[in-house]
Amino acid sequence: MLKFELLQEDKTSAARLGRLTTAHTTVDTPIFMPVGTQATVKTLTPEDLYEIGAGIILANAYHLYLRPGCELIQQAGGLHRFMNWKKGILTDSGGFQVFSLSKLRDINDDGVWFHSHIDGSRHFLTPEKVMEIEAKLGADIAMCFDECAPYPCTYEEAEKAVKRTSLWAGRCKKAHNNDKQVLFGIIQGSVYPELRERSVGELTALDFPGYAIGGLSVGEPKEMLYATLEVTTRMLPREKPRYLMGVGAPEDLLEGVRLGVDMFDCVLPTRLARHGTAYTAEGKITVRNALYAADFSPLDARCSCYVCQNYSRAYIRHLIKAEEILAQRLLSYHNLYFLFQLMAGIRAALAKGEFPSFYREFFHNYISA
Ligand code: GUN
Ligand code: ZN
Repeated sequence: MLKFELLQEDKTSAARLGRLTTAHTTVDTPIFMPVGTQATVKTLTPEDLYEIGAGIILANAYHLYLRPGCELIQQAGGLHRFMNWKKGILTDSGGFQVFSLSKLRDINDDGVWFHSHIDGSRHFLTPEKVMEIEAKLGADIAMCFDECAPYPCTYEEAEKAVKRTSLWAGRCKKAHNNDKQVLFGIIQGSVYPELRERSVGELTALDFPGYAIGGLSVGEPKEMLYATLEVTTRMLPREKPRYLMGVGAPEDLLEGVRLGVDMFDCVLPTRLARHGTAYTAEGKITVRNALYAADFSPLDARCSCYVCQNYSRAYIRHLIKAEEILAQRLLSYHNLYFLFQLMAGIRAALAKGEFPSFYREFFHNYISA
């Protein structure tokens, strides 16, 4: 099941406020979805995530199929029960990981042969097989099996990926028969506007309940990301949710919202945390720096999270230097909280018709580097 209500639209941009209901959750959009690739948002418990305000998280069919296996998760009663997460889950199909992680892949219109990045074992994934895997995992939202072209790639390569993604989307739709779970289509087309247009045309003809924009944030310059996003969202149906895959730097969330995106996911907040970086209203800080050795102020003076209320930069820097794992957990908590506060701020501004001033204010303070 899926319900998407558009509550308000910004008059000066494509930004919109909405409400999305799936089998396990109702969330206000624009929303950020934390990434829990292996059925865990690294270092955090579900209780931490509820406290931060997460309503829907991501997991990955490719990873969970390889380990521990989707039969095991099905035996546990599905992914929600297995990982003790009671709100929404979206599973990515692996259409990205097969290309980025696995070895010796051999792709044809039927499917993809690849070797597991874990033990080298050989596997063949098809759109039908991926639908079976995602059904067993039991997420609220499943993603189609797609082909994500690398950047840079030629027009011809990108065109091939668009054709295959459309062919596979048709097969996914046919194979997907599960009334609790909904299936989103994925738009490809690299940075070529004509191909994005074709992909939107072919995917919308299949009438999915929501559309993801894939193939971005794969190394292209930011201007190309924004320009491609603009031409893509413009062509997507107004009344359906739009999900920009793998994008989540604070400045990109603002731009994405401005260009009409409703949902985002990204490993960045938790990955940066594990590498000792914290978001602040002024930009990122590298907490490990000697600059913070005796800085007893919180990570971000404007943040009201549990970490900022209780710990100092100096203490967290000490944990990082001493290789204490609490550092990773505290930084992950704060970074996700920071993004949730940002998204809540965006939604509040949209509700008041003040998105343009929120946008200006954000970039006035935040240095993206
Ligand atoms: N995650 C980030 N980009 C992509 C994409 O293009 N396809 C899929 N399936 N997942 C992604
Ligand atoms: Zn904080």
